Amino acid sequence: MATTQSSFTVDQSHFKVFEPTSTPDRLLLGPGPSNADPQVLQALSLSPVGHLDPFYVGLMSEVQELLRYCWQTDNRLTIPMSGTGSAAMEATLANVVEPQDTVLIGIKGYFGHRLADMASRYRANVETIEKEWGQVFSLDEIEAALNKYQPKVFALVHAETSTGVCQPMEGIGELCRKHNCLLLLDTVTSLGGVPLFLDKWKVDLAYSCSQKGLSCPPGLGPFTMNKRAEEKMNSRSEKVPNWYLDVSLLNKYWGSDRVYHHTAPVNMNFALREALRILSQEGLDKSWQRHRSNAERLWKGLNSLNLELHVDEEYRLPTLTTVRIPSGIDSKAFIIHLLNNYGIEIGGGLGSLAGKVWRIGLMGYNSRKENVDKILNIFETELDNFKK
Ligand SMILES: Cc1ncc(COP(=O)(O)O)c(C=O)c1O
Repeated sequence: MATTQSSFTVDQSHFKVFEPTSTPDRLLLGPGPSNADPQVLQALSLSPVGHLDPFYVGLMSEVQELLRYCWQTDNRLTIPMSGTGSAAMEATLANVVEPQDTVLIGIKGYFGHRLADMASRYRANVETIEKEWGQVFSLDEIEAALNKYQPKVFALVHAETSTGVCQPMEGIGELCRKHNCLLLLDTVTSLGGVPLFLDKWKVDLAYSCSQKGLSCPPGLGPFTMNKRAEEKMNSRSEKVPNWYLDVSLLNKYWGSDRVYHHTAPVNMNFALREALRILSQEGLDKSWQRHRSNAERLWKGLNSLNLELHVDEEYRLPTLTTVRIPSGIDSKAFIIHLLNNYGIEIGGGLGSLAGKVWRIGLMGYNSRKENVDKILNIFETELDNFKK
């Protein structure tokens, strides 16, 4: 039957004329995303190639090798998941957790709760230990919980973006080996900006994101698992209950077979390669030192303005600082003013810290002395105008 003219009649009710896409100038000094390096944005805008093009297949191997360097790991199964940090978080749990496995989560902030929620969706027997938001776990507390719950997996957030705490890692991996459980680590706010030694720390599974310490836009979630985690995955009695994140399938694409799994976001991987290349050219140790010294400059400046920092200096995260909101200050109005008048984004508190702290991120490309001085200057000159 011939197509009639009327079958092409388009409903115009959602048709509007828009301007071409452009974005306002922003300095992203919040909990993430951070600004991307301009060279990374250039790589992102290159013309796509096919996801099985020999050129792209070579680039994939380079991304994997650069990720191994940045995480300090030899793990074969090191893959940037298509999706954000939460996709990679989900991949760690989906691949190793079987129904009724006990999964112990150390919760000391917002993202520990997310881990517990996700693990429960994979029908784990979820047990938790909790610390106040702003504190870290001691080895004794972890050992007591491992003894009590005998978990198959112990999951922990290294750099808690909701509190500004960095969990000391020495000794935790050894305890997990002693108790025959896997150690799973969230490194979303630490990769690239804070010392991370996955193999030395005996971390079995880890994940991260592209949009913070790596100076890349959001869209990829680096994932890694070692041989111990692989063994647990391979001994499953049922399939991984998530097709998209099943590492045994993904590895047919990222491993030596190179067969189609899903259409890779090739441009995001161009960008990630460039971001990791820039980081490796700087040198991991240099990047860690840069983040540390800029954070210390911020902490010193805030202290000299009589502003209190939420976390003890020993456990403070160089990539994310939590500043207590002085009483009588309209904290939301201050955040809005920064964005509207200076194009600067900082974060408010999450969960139990909502209304109590501001969160200032100095991550990747944005960890710079001039950004520290800019934000300190605004706090110094503007904060008093926000007394309620
Ligand atoms: C510690 C931590 N874990 C996980 C996530 C989730 O990552 P995404 O928002 O990229 O999905 C975030 C996001 O900021 C985070 O800070």
